[in-house]
Amino acid sequence: MSFVKDVILDVDTGIDDALALILATRLTHALRIVGVTTVAGNVDLASATENTRSVLGLVERADVPVAAGADGPLARPLRTAPAFHGDGGLGDVDSSDWNVPRPPLLDEPAPSFIARLAREHPGQITIVATGPLTNLARALTEDATLARNLAGLVVMGGAIGVPGNASPVAEANFFTDPEAARIVLSADLPTILVPLDATEQVRIQRVDVERVRARAPSRRSPVADFALEICEFYLRACESHGREGAALHDPLAVAIAAIPELAETEPLAVQISTLDPLTAGQCVVDRRPRTPLRPELPPNVHSCTRVLADTSRQLILGEIFPR
Ligand code: BDR
Ligand code: CA
Repeated sequence: MSFVKDVILDVDTGIDDALALILATRLTHALRIVGVTTVAGNVDLASATENTRSVLGLVERADVPVAAGADGPLARPLRTAPAFHGDGGLGDVDSSDWNVPRPPLLDEPAPSFIARLAREHPGQITIVATGPLTNLARALTEDATLARNLAGLVVMGGAIGVPGNASPVAEANFFTDPEAARIVLSADLPTILVPLDATEQVRIQRVDVERVRARAPSRRSPVADFALEICEFYLRACESHGREGAALHDPLAVAIAAIPELAETEPLAVQISTLDPLTAGQCVVDRRPRTPLRPELPPNVHSCTRVLADTSRQLILGEIFPR
């Protein structure tokens, strides 16, 4: 029996968020997008929101409600990531002159939108969060019933057993808003964590974009052309930082939300450090053995450890660049 999940995507669009949005609209057998909420992260809130509406317009999903949320982290200044995502968030692409019908922006702020939908459809909605967790932290703080009204949460964030990508120990989404990550991971909510340990295994390589670029332009859709352009920017940025290929962080979170079998998970007790300057955003995992004096901490996340990297990569690229 096929089972379609109702999802709200919480994004800081961003190149890989844009790819994740495209992917989510393609996986209709598994995901029904009931809303998209935006948050400041890779870019400021206005850019994240405009990019999100443009991408949804391009993929002909002007029907999806979009709600804007937090314009900065709970307790710190916003640090954006123009080196990887470009000044506007979509590499060199300026979507402001695209002639596509875009979804309207709701009046309701993202935290209240999330809480309301969860209340109206208890146990039905899964959040897939691919940006800093500010909106969700606010929503959980403002509405004590939210955690039990949600079906679950899939979070792209954290580094468990690998180095960070924003600091020696922290992944960018958790580094940007560690206080929010701490609140969300402490909530009593079934959470699948998709950390760098998994996403760094699933990369787009130069040869992938060259293959798509080599197709006759008439065989590429406007969506594929857009995706190609932002992937080329993202690859150049990663290569100039000494990396080979570019990790498909946010699309992998969407893929795992749709097809959980793509990853093996491990139950972990994880807390997020909010201590500056060295460890903010670090995942602190309690792996100590249980003793009579120290009972085991209950796990609060299921963290993706092994991932079917090649299958995931092929699925993501196959959906974004269909032949
Ligand atoms: C995460 O940080 C952002 O820059 C990306 O969009 C992704 O969500 C990867 O660490
Ligand atoms: Ca993101």
